[in-house]
Amino acid sequence: MIPSAVTLVEVGPRDGLQNEAQPVPTATKIELVQRLQAAGCREIEVTSFVSPKWVPQMADNAQVLAGIARSPSVRYSVLTPNLKGLEAALAGPREQWPHEVVVFGAASEAFSQRNINCSIADSVERFRPVVAAAHAAGLKVRCAISCALGCPYEGEVSADAVENVVRLMRGIGVDHCGVADTIGVGTPRRVQAALERALKHFPLAQVSGHFHDTYGQALANILASLELGVHTFDTSIAGLGGCPYAKGATGNVATEDVVFMLQGMGIATGSSLDALVDAGAYISAQLGRAPVSRVSRALLAKRGVAV
Ligand code: HMG
Ligand code: MG
Repeated sequence: MIPSAVTLVEVGPRDGLQNEAQPVPTATKIELVQRLQAAGCREIEVTSFVSPKWVPQMADNAQVLAGIARSPSVRYSVLTPNLKGLEAALAGPREQWPHEVVVFGAASEAFSQRNINCSIADSVERFRPVVAAAHAAGLKVRCAISCALGCPYEGEVSADAVENVVRLMRGIGVDHCGVADTIGVGTPRRVQAALERALKHFPLAQVSGHFHDTYGQALANILASLELGVHTFDTSIAGLGGCPYAKGATGNVATEDVVFMLQGMGIATGSSLDALVDAGAYISAQLGRAPVSRVSRALLAKRGVAV
């Protein structure tokens, strides 16, 4: 049964902007988050508490998190790869804490080394105290399993390799499992096979898809996920982004494209497509380029806006 409503986790401010070479002003990041919440986004991944030497673009994480005029209907999340990151995310007053933190592992050893500088097994041990401390602070913990469909260094990744990490993440008490196609090589049946492994260990409501659109497969992969009943997806406004440790990986599937498809299928998302197009046009203009989203480009052209 195809779900009648879908939860979208807007990852543009984090996954999108982390890949930008030019520093994006903190005020622009905050303005983007505010436009997204005004457009109806109810889950926003705001920033990441990673090493500023590794990802300089996220060095203003604390200022971004503290600077948002919070909406009571939005859940805010941030990436925290270790206890140092979690402590920094919780350094401000409680009303500035995120609701959820994200630990990110990989289904491929080579990517784990490149992205977080340790093996898969070591990464999970590093996450164990993060999960415990986050829970003690009353936060939810999501995990991302990168390279679930393919790895830029190792090539094809098996469903067994995905399930191995899923099981480890479940074992340390992670609440939610995100299956991530970091380099966008997944196709619908393989995506279903990977998700089915996650669904063996996590309930349906706690499994999501995170599909980069590098090979143009992301919408098809979302449809394939819906066929399994999966109803939570990460999307990125204007199709921003990529991963600094996966060369050539383009952005997550564009929020506007996903909302257009879901609206056409009569599936509720709670967001306003027009306002999302505005938010996408805003950040794209700030970055000096046109939105990658095909839907945005079409709707802006219809409005008579040159893109
Ligand atoms: P490390 O170098 O192995 O850690 O980094 P370390 O503990 O040896 O520390 C080394 C230095 O980093 C020290 O500073 C620490 O203080 C500092 P120094 O003494 O040299 O001055 N440090 C930190 N600083 C700030 N915040 C922290 C932190 N931790 C250590 N949290 C680490 C390990 C994971 C931190 C590092 O490898 C890192 O930051 N990597 C960046 C990974 C990243 O952000 N990747 C992109 C996001 S993941 C992604 O995009 C995939 C996803 O979208 C899903 C998908 O598409 O696949 C989620
Ligand atoms: Mg990603």
